[in-house]
Amino acid sequence: MTTDNSATSILIIGAAQGIGQAIARTFAADHYHVILADLSESVYDTAQQIRVDLPQASVDATVLDATDLRAVEQLAENITELLPDAQQNLQHVVYSAGAGSGKFGFPFWNMHPADWKRVLDVNLMGAVNVAHAFSKVLRANLRDNSTKVVDSTLLFIASIAGQMGSQTDPPYSAAKAGLINFMQVVAKDLAPFGIRANAISPGMIQSSLTRSVWQAWNDQQAEHDKLDYKQWGQDKLNNICPLARWQTPEEIAATALFLASTGAANITGQTINVDGGIIMHS
Ligand SMILES: NC(=O)c1ccc[n+]([C@@H]2O[C@H](COP(=O)([O-])OP(=O)(O)OC[C@H]3O[C@@H](n4cnc5c(N)ncnc54)[C@H](O)[C@@H]3O)[C@@H](O)[C@H]2O)c1
Repeated sequence: MTTDNSATSILIIGAAQGIGQAIARTFAADHYHVILADLSESVYDTAQQIRVDLPQASVDATVLDATDLRAVEQLAENITELLPDAQQNLQHVVYSAGAGSGKFGFPFWNMHPADWKRVLDVNLMGAVNVAHAFSKVLRANLRDNSTKVVDSTLLFIASIAGQMGSQTDPPYSAAKAGLINFMQVVAKDLAPFGIRANAISPGMIQSSLTRSVWQAWNDQQAEHDKLDYKQWGQDKLNNICPLARWQTPEEIAATALFLASTGAANITGQTINVDGGIIMHS
């Protein structure tokens, strides 16, 4: 049985590239109306490329700095302008924006406390801004019938770094730990409205983010210890990942699609690790 998602809209923040872009493509291919938002103006090119690759896709795009609360609130207030018709609601929101410090954070005093602010702002406060502004939009879906369960969702892309004292980039790990904790609060507070909230923790994906982590590491190494990006990642994976393989943006997107589906109707407040088994919790 195929599901008709043509009346369902999803907003993905951090969608110009990487995991956010893969999530947008996957939902567009599954006939959702997708709205891409990103700090980078390249989000418009990404949206156009999805339209070219998937001619049936229904795609909109907008520039957004998620760390700017007023800008996030304005997008939430005007979101109907990006929906295909006035009868439709926004049903799903994904927060995939993220950034590392770009510095080698081991040991932690290698960094300065001033290096933390931007990392906390993008990875944590942006998500807080989005949860505040868009939970209001998702709750308003109930305005006509307060007993109707709408099964809207919020999804936060966290990281396995937030589940361990990862020494690579301390402000990034701390921000993701905060994000996972906040997601659980969001899940509890929105459950009475039929809105679910979850997180996905990717392991290691080839993207600009891990490339900047590698670059910061590589810059610190003596000439004979330097490794190229792929070898650095594979060595790390061989040490810590039972499946010893990189994860892909498409694998994260497949989990995101499941979490938005009715098949996941009883899943809320969870962090799903798509990480080849790096983290195993009972
Ligand atoms: N790549 C990995 O291995 C990995 C692992 C674990 C978690 N993650 C998380 O997955 C998410 C996506 O990472 P990615 O690998 O696709 O990274 P990426 O750098 O390819 O993409 C991140 C996107 O977020 C956007 N962005 C940054 N700041 C923003 C802001 N203030 N407002 C709006 N958009 C903003 C960027 O412009 C970019 O398009 C991030 O939250 C990241 O922390 C990635």
